[in-house]
Amino acid sequence: MTREEAIDSVKANVENENLIKHMLATEAIMRALARRFGEDEEEWGLTGLLHDIDVELTEGDMSSHSKLGADLARELGASEAIAHAILCHNETHGIPRETKLDRALFCADPLTGLIIAAALVRPDKKLAGLEAKSVKKRFKEKSFAAGADRQQISLCSEIGLELDEFIQLGLEAMKGIADGLGL
Ligand SMILES: [Fe+2]
Repeated sequence: MTREEAIDSVKANVENENLIKHMLATEAIMRALARRFGEDEEEWGLTGLLHDIDVELTEGDMSSHSKLGADLARELGASEAIAHAILCHNETHGIPRETKLDRALFCADPLTGLIIAAALVRPDKKLAGLEAKSVKKRFKEKSFAAGADRQQISLCSEIGLELDEFIQLGLEAMKGIADGLGL
């Protein structure tokens, strides 16, 4: 599966632009993490790109969310490692995270929302001028972007990253695709 095929499939299954942007942002962070760890950047990127492909099809049904996504990814030709990471990023299924890829997706997913929210409260609503220390400050404000699960983001420790480095890496990765994110 090429990246183009994956994007086409995401767009065929997801209409909401913000959800597509969430997947692109997750892809960017996953690619940066793969580079950081010397892992397979294409595989990690595809994991981020495809991880919520079923989000509209499952319509908030958490018992099917990510099971269907893993099946769709497999149909597209994704590796079993990608399918497993997608499957266990939804804790409802009680499937333990086993690999570094599983753990990376789990903590990268909510970081995108925190960073996007931190950009949107800026006067220019842009990522370019946003600094990691501002994101860290927002991280500590529990009521800010409360949907971005801080505990989950903190699990970057499981892949050997301090929170500061993780935020910095995620922010830089998302700045790299700022135009695509409309930020
Ligand atoms: Fe997600």
